[in-house]
Amino acid sequence: MNKDFLDLAQWSRDELESLLTLAAELKAAPAKFSQVLAGKSLAMIFKKSSTRTRVSFEVGMFQLGGQAIFMSSAHTQVGRGEPLKDTARVLSRYVDGIMIRTFEHSDVETLACYASVPVINGLTDFLHPCQVLTDIFTIKEHLGVDFSELSGLKVAYIGDGNNMANSWINAALRFDFDLKIACPAGYEPDSALLDRVNRKVGGGKVAVVNDPLTAANGALVLNTDVWASMGQEDEALIRRKAFAGYQINTELLKVAAPNPLVLHCLPAHRGEEITESLFERYQDLIFTQAENRLHVQKALLVTLMAK
Ligand code: CP
Ligand code: NVA
Repeated sequence: MNKDFLDLAQWSRDELESLLTLAAELKAAPAKFSQVLAGKSLAMIFKKSSTRTRVSFEVGMFQLGGQAIFMSSAHTQVGRGEPLKDTARVLSRYVDGIMIRTFEHSDVETLACYASVPVINGLTDFLHPCQVLTDIFTIKEHLGVDFSELSGLKVAYIGDGNNMANSWINAALRFDFDLKIACPAGYEPDSALLDRVNRKVGGGKVAVVNDPLTAANGALVLNTDVWASMGQEDEALIRRKAFAGYQINTELLKVAAPNPLVLHCLPAHRGEEITESLFERYQDLIFTQAENRLHVQKALLVTLMAK
């Protein structure tokens, strides 16, 4: 098993399935695991904002008997230019794991390379693996199916070819999903990942299209994310024009499979990537998805840190 959790592609399907099985056990009987990480500490470096990731990791460590240390880049030497390779070696002398949310994916890789303790990717511009792993858990839980039945699952992702879309591609390759991503020209997912798709690295089918209706046609899972991600605030206006129509709405639902699941990693921009009425219709599933970040990340923390 990899020391770190940076990218779904670095873990085998068996390893990911074990992790999700443990997450279900943790959700069903949290008290059983209340001392698994007693005496252990997780450092959490944030160069970007967060509500769910910060709180779910912090509460998760507490519920496992350990503690989490919030390190905003604004108030630590990381934000004043101390190299991550030094931060990695210092923190490895104090803590048992590091979670980082940052811009450049190479930051996470540098940290993992120099840290002797596990490093978890809490989101980069490139990937958001904790979220998509949770999304898979939520789909499986909601449908009440076995892992084998996830193969061939028709998933539509409507919107920006960003960290969420990229992570969905990795998930499709690992779990054999039939993934269709609808995005405007110029906003496609990462080209190196699409190259992996073209070279048929892994199972599953991934198609990138421009028409949201084509992507949603027959899909059992409809998924979206904001049009402008963190760090792209200056592009919000231009993106609002480019993404007009890339929205989960009733038209899309009409062509999807019967009783589709609508997921949103949050935060949501109602009236942009999803309508207010559809968001509220699916709010229970969407907030269960948010809750599941806690259970899945606890499984990740136990798997990586309980030695
Ligand atoms: N979905 C998600 O990662 O939310 P936060 O940005 O609030 O952590
Ligand atoms: N794509 C979004 C995800 C937020 C959880 C962002 O990076 O801001």
